[in-house]
Amino acid sequence: MPLTLLTHPLIQHKLTILRDKNTGVKEFREIVSEIAMLMCYEATRGLPLEEVEVITPVAPARSKTVAGKKLALVPVLRAGLGMVEGMINLVPSAKVAHIGLYRDPETLQPVEYYCKLPPDIMERDCFVLDPMLATGGTAAAAVQYLKEAGARSIKLLCILAAPPGVDKLGYEHPDVEVITCAVDGHLNEHGYIVPGLGDAGDRIFGTK
Ligand code: URA
Repeated sequence: MPLTLLTHPLIQHKLTILRDKNTGVKEFREIVSEIAMLMCYEATRGLPLEEVEVITPVAPARSKTVAGKKLALVPVLRAGLGMVEGMINLVPSAKVAHIGLYRDPETLQPVEYYCKLPPDIMERDCFVLDPMLATGGTAAAAVQYLKEAGARSIKLLCILAAPPGVDKLGYEHPDVEVITCAVDGHLNEHGYIVPGLGDAGDRIFGTK
């Protein structure tokens, strides 16, 4: 499974601010958005271009535009919502799909509670957004849901990853590229990434 590590100094600097337990909700949310924008820049590096003619104030020119590729941003509720604004700033014509999953306490299987995809999802390059790839259970289920809906091109954008999540996704969905800013050491007994940054959803929405 392809894993792309984003080592750009600005991304790494901003990630350190997210990790800091003293970073407040407002700044945390803003930095998540900024990192998402930088991740979008990297994740769209392979978009096809076409040449068009444009008249500059000086002369006609041949220049390039993105060749009408259809994109879908797919935040996994709820923490993935924090990454939408930063991404959509760069790709404003992308559609936004939503996937809400919870873990059934008895079967421990992910269950969808709210999912809404654009009808042409099979024609779109899908960027699944989930800031934390921990066990990989939710991300793998979200990717599975997208595939069952017909999606064929899927990348997972997570700000932080841990080895169990990377392994699970690689095993279940080897065709899905994982793009992340860091792969941390391990998970603790509560399933949190160590050292990580805590609960991304709580820190984005101020619910703790
Ligand atoms: N989800 C989070 O928000 N944080 C973690 O460390 C793991 C999963």
